[in-house]
Amino acid sequence: MTASKRLVVSCLFLVLLFAEANSMGLKVGFYGKTCPQAEGIVKKVVFAAIKKAPTLGAPLLRMNFHDCFVRGCDGSVLLELSNNQAEKNAVPNLSLRGFGVIDDSKAAIEKVCPGVVSCSDILALVARDAMVALEGPSWEVETGRRDGRVSNISEVNLPSPFDNITKLITEFSAKGLDEKDLVVLSGGHTIGMGHCPLIANRLYNFTGKGDSDPSLDSEYAAKLRKKCKPTDFTTAIEMDPGSFKTFDESYFTLVAKRRGLFQSDAALLDNSKTRAYIFKQATTYGSTFFTDFGVSMVKMGRIEVLTGHAGEIRKMCRIPN
Ligand code: HEM
Repeated sequence: MTASKRLVVSCLFLVLLFAEANSMGLKVGFYGKTCPQAEGIVKKVVFAAIKKAPTLGAPLLRMNFHDCFVRGCDGSVLLELSNNQAEKNAVPNLSLRGFGVIDDSKAAIEKVCPGVVSCSDILALVARDAMVALEGPSWEVETGRRDGRVSNISEVNLPSPFDNITKLITEFSAKGLDEKDLVVLSGGHTIGMGHCPLIANRLYNFTGKGDSDPSLDSEYAAKLRKKCKPTDFTTAIEMDPGSFKTFDESYFTLVAKRRGLFQSDAALLDNSKTRAYIFKQATTYGSTFFTDFGVSMVKMGRIEVLTGHAGEIRKMCRIPN
């Protein structure tokens, strides 16, 4: 075979390989033929749930993030074990709520197309629809994930609210996400609540001398001290005061004013790229945040997914088949 023929053959091989990889992977409308009702069912369940309890939207988004960052987006955060050693039992997951919304969606889908739609896809769809219900962005969710069979408390090593920017960038990069994804997805903190113990060090004893975190606006710190007493372990406070039930751009205005709740929020000012993004969103009319959020959520939804014949389609989202 001549060199040019060999080149053509290798190119053809690469094209075929790429097509195969695509067909084995995720795509928008994966259930178009096998369960066309699935996405509509999820939307109906989510909208009804959020209408009743608007604060459920935030933990549902967070649940999607916590699923994807541990063992990939495989629904492992939904599993329960009799020994209470599943991901769900790890400290950062104890404040997750809304598992009933996943179960209700799954049960309604199983009635019309049993054994077809994965719990990991349902979780991705639920997170998107919850943001739409909170007046936030919409994006096309890729589907075709399959469910994992393993969930282990010891594997939960999520980014921490005490992380600095270097650690956050490393953690996101390990999942194929860059600085832009980090700052964009942190914008998820435009909704929801955080618990007092996670900011007590910033308010009361930052360097062990009874001081507060200099990267936190001092007026805001004083307000927070009124809400969170040093030994308060239970109170939750709004991460985006005034609009914590609405998905909007105000997270970036807050962080720009050094009013981000966690050290991990404030840390986004310590890197030139993430800092530039924050100031751009906080100051430019016609923010790109909504579009960017959808793009980064789709990227997050691709983390270490099981597709093709890997994993399974769970019958019930809390237990492997
Ligand atoms: C960058 C690293 C991140 C860290 C360190 C972090 C940390 C936290 C912490 C500590 C809480 C409060 C939990 C509580 O007190 O109950 C929280 C809440 C929340 N996080 Fe994050 N998070 C990060 C990224 C994300 C991402 C990527 C998303 C989604 C795209 C997200 C969405 C949320 C939401 C919606 C809440 C509110 C939950 C509720 O109200 O129940 N976070 N996060």
